[in-house]
Amino acid sequence: MLKTSIIQFRPEFANVKANTLKVNGLLAAVKHSDLVVLPELANTGYNFISREQARSLAEPPENSAYVEMLVHSAQKNKQLIVSGYHELEGDKLYNSSLLISEDGLAGKYRKVHLFMNEKTIFEPGNLGFPVFQVKGIKLGMLICFDYLFVEAWRIMGLKGAEIIAHPSNLITQNATKAIPAQAMINRFFIVTANRTGTERSITFNGRSFAVDPKGDYIARIPDDKETISTFDINPETAHDKLITPLNHVFDDRFPGLYKEILEKDLT
Ligand code: ACM
Repeated sequence: MLKTSIIQFRPEFANVKANTLKVNGLLAAVKHSDLVVLPELANTGYNFISREQARSLAEPPENSAYVEMLVHSAQKNKQLIVSGYHELEGDKLYNSSLLISEDGLAGKYRKVHLFMNEKTIFEPGNLGFPVFQVKGIKLGMLICFDYLFVEAWRIMGLKGAEIIAHPSNLITQNATKAIPAQAMINRFFIVTANRTGTERSITFNGRSFAVDPKGDYIARIPDDKETISTFDINPETAHDKLITPLNHVFDDRFPGLYKEILEKDLT
């Protein structure tokens, strides 16, 4: 069993130091969890005024007190941590998610599907949809708006993902309709850690949740308050891909018939 925690909280906008301190304190409260998932852009907040402002707040993971704090916590508590992270590489900015283990940075995903003004700030992710094997589990990551793109979930399902960690800054309830279906269709767990609070005109709606491979809720924070939710995941249940004794969600596919999806225009 994998004791898993969602930390739903409100990052302080543009204050990496305050967020580092705050997340450090919150991680102390989940020291007995094996896996902890934090929201998107947990180190900086979300609603940047300009690319220049965003650039001034971004850091490479290898030179970040925030990441150092995550690694220290993962070592101390022998746990895995997934956190949204505002990443600088060269002069490029990425809306990233880091997977931290006792050994340091164990995996990274960069958000591919950028939402609204993110397109003026970040590069689209260039790392594909990797699945990381760490501490006996197979884990993939998506970030917030990525959830609308069914191909991303499917690729990670086909790569054997048992759990998808989904750091988010959601502002609508649409994810609660789409995500349980993706869990059921691919037969894996999904852990959506959303943030709370308002930044200028944007209010984030909290209501983080986790669903099992049948698409049923196993955790659901009811409101937009800062809250920690802890629950158990048995990753092995994600290995059962049978819908009926004769129907397997992956083996029943006909990939040769789906090649049209690679065409730009099918009209
Ligand atoms: C979002 O992708 N942060 C809505």
